[in-house]
Amino acid sequence: MKRKLPAALITAFNAAAITATPLAAQEILDRQEPLPPPIEEMHPVIVPRPLERIPTGEFGDKVRLGYRLFVNSQLLRDRYVGNDLSCVNCHMDAGRRANSAPLWAAYFAYPAYRKKNDKVNSFAERLQGCFTYSTNGEGPPVGGAEAIALSAYAYWLGMGGLMDFYELDGSVPAISDEELVKGGRREDFPMPVALKKALPVDKRAALAGRGYPPLQNPPEAYSPERGQQVYVEHCLLCHGADGQGFASAGVHTLPPLWGPQSYNWGAGMHRINTAASFIYENMPLGKSIQLTQQQAWDVAAYINSRERPQDPRFLGDVEKLRKKYHHHQCYYGQSLDGGEILGSEAFADFPRRGD
Ligand code: HEC
Ligand code: HEC
Repeated sequence: MKRKLPAALITAFNAAAITATPLAAQEILDRQEPLPPPIEEMHPVIVPRPLERIPTGEFGDKVRLGYRLFVNSQLLRDRYVGNDLSCVNCHMDAGRRANSAPLWAAYFAYPAYRKKNDKVNSFAERLQGCFTYSTNGEGPPVGGAEAIALSAYAYWLGMGGLMDFYELDGSVPAISDEELVKGGRREDFPMPVALKKALPVDKRAALAGRGYPPLQNPPEAYSPERGQQVYVEHCLLCHGADGQGFASAGVHTLPPLWGPQSYNWGAGMHRINTAASFIYENMPLGKSIQLTQQQAWDVAAYINSRERPQDPRFLGDVEKLRKKYHHHQCYYGQSLDGGEILGSEAFADFPRRGD
């Protein structure tokens, strides 16, 4: 059923809307590599323990702090976070939900090589990436309390889920800060012997539910123009006619999808394929998987054809950056229907707040 919108809202929305010609989905090498597809057969899905089971004491305090920073990342505003988003806005249910890039699956997938920064990334280095791009800020130092806390939270979710799955009793063993930030995909990771046997290192990156499951290519080339209609019908009431979401008491309960307070031009979510998979699985919130795959692609193209904060790797030349890093399904450095080159009007990066 279509909901009727106030006429003024629709007019304001249409005035701001772009009139784009659909760009064909491109089959070009993606240098900003998305998560790899599942390698071999997947490990069956695990279920993280309920938060009430976080233990008391020093280790539990780290886990609890990690949880708090994850669901309200604005606690780190202007230190490590440069926009209005929180981690939980894209990693649903406090990073617990399968198929929504859950922390428990991520934790056992690092250390891992990443093309994006051309080195082996520990778990803490990987989460620094989401600070830099998704929350348009600057990753907290690997040895600092914040990175340790977020790693402890991810470890606790993953290890608890695995212990339950393999019927190992007891609380999740506390491990040192140094071990925590590295991640669980290594031979020397401290783990109960039974678990080590059940889940050898080469199987750990393949926990079912990791990442956002990729969608098939759309039947028709994705179109921001059609996506705008999907947006009006399915998204506008929560994310606003101007895509800026809604805040109460200074905190965005409904997060912005583009503009100065959203993820930047280097974030995974600016890729149309990644946003399409996320949206298909998770949006509209509370009644997901009600869009067709085509609609998910189209609306992903629409929101990612709007201006947002600059790619932090920008050195003054949009075209150069596009050639270097944007060989994937995105609109950075492109002009839609003769409009501005996207990226050329991008908002300033962290730490300048509210530009
Ligand atoms: C705008 C959405 C968004 C926000 C906000 C966000 N992330 Fe992410 N995150 C993603 C996407 C998309 C991916 C998957 C990347 C890909 O497919 O390239 C990801 C991947 C990750 C991974 C690796 C997952 C894996 O399985 O390898 C970790 C860890 C992570 N994010 C942590 C965080 C933390 C911590 C925060 C808060 C500081 C955060 N993210 C905020 C979108 C977001
Ligand atoms: C019922 C309200 C509601 C509707 C309708 C809705 N969303 Fe959301 N959306 C949210 C909330 C709330 C979050 C943050 C989730 C969280 O923190 O748990 C979110 C998060 C997002 C995010 C990741 C965070 C960000 O700001 O980039 C994207 C992208 C997104 N929504 C796109 C869409 C699209 C596209 C539609 C329409 C198909 C849509 N949403 C419909 C409430 C909604």
